Amino acid sequence: MKIVNSPPEMKNLSLTAQSGGSTVGLVPTMGALHEGHLSLLKLACQYCDFLVMSIFVNPAQFGPAEDLAKYPRPFERDCELAAAAGCDCLFVPQPQDMYPENYSTYVNVENISDTLCGASRPAHFRGVTTVVLKLFNIVSPQIAVFGQKDVQQLVVIKRMCQDLNLSVKILTAPIIREESGLAMSSRNVYLSEKERRESSVIYKSLMAAQELYESGERSGEAIRRRVRSIIDKSDTVRPEYVEVVDTARLKSVDKIDRKVIAALACRTSESGTRLIDNIILGGDL
Ligand code: PAJ
Repeated sequence: MKIVNSPPEMKNLSLTAQSGGSTVGLVPTMGALHEGHLSLLKLACQYCDFLVMSIFVNPAQFGPAEDLAKYPRPFERDCELAAAAGCDCLFVPQPQDMYPENYSTYVNVENISDTLCGASRPAHFRGVTTVVLKLFNIVSPQIAVFGQKDVQQLVVIKRMCQDLNLSVKILTAPIIREESGLAMSSRNVYLSEKERRESSVIYKSLMAAQELYESGERSGEAIRRRVRSIIDKSDTVRPEYVEVVDTARLKSVDKIDRKVIAALACRTSESGTRLIDNIILGGDL
């Protein structure tokens, strides 16, 4: 597996692979790899012959009070895991190369960046779309894989690709979970023992939402209430939002008459870790 730091070198490598007839795939990450990230590589492997994974803890998507400095960066381990999962090239740019002095250009996907997680993380999705477009321009992948775990990110990125006429095809990978049901996340390492145990209420609440939906319930409010009532059983996991939204505009739905996303964000009370999760009711994304 090749490790590349320089954006121009990455660009050359990718264009050379493409001119040799290879299909280039990209899996963007911030590292601290877990089974969720590796499942994205596995999916990408099926659709490309030159697989690039990027690892970049993107300063532009972190708020001033967020965990940019303490975000885990186990680089050696990440290299081993990526290579073993079939990655051909690890692209690891440096912040000063991605955002040099006088950097001034940002991509903002309006409306859908401001709801759900965007409501408490202003500028987060602007940072995500900016870096993802930069990665697309550097790697020029024909396909890129994103996880359903970050469902708003996925919807925002798909919107950007459509709105800006990008030709990259976006593939969606399902959520990989711990045995307890907790969605895998690089941030789970922040959780205390108790928080880790109690955070299984999140998946339980989404399963209850699905059960309610499958029993015929079509009121968004009834589903939101059921989810909250289950999360409220934990005293360390506090909901930040619980929403049932449509899949295109991410607007709250009262009467469910098409597929919807039941999405939530919680914060744990001891370590202050933010956890997100979601489920699609009535179909796939
Ligand atoms: P990161 O949190 O490292 O996630 C990288 C990719 O892995 C995302 O597409 C995310 O949805 C997916 N992923 C994370 N946990 C997952 C799980 N449990 N199951 C399946 N997929 C999972 O998301 C980002 O980084 C950044 O915002 C990025 C897109 C790289 C832009 O900086």
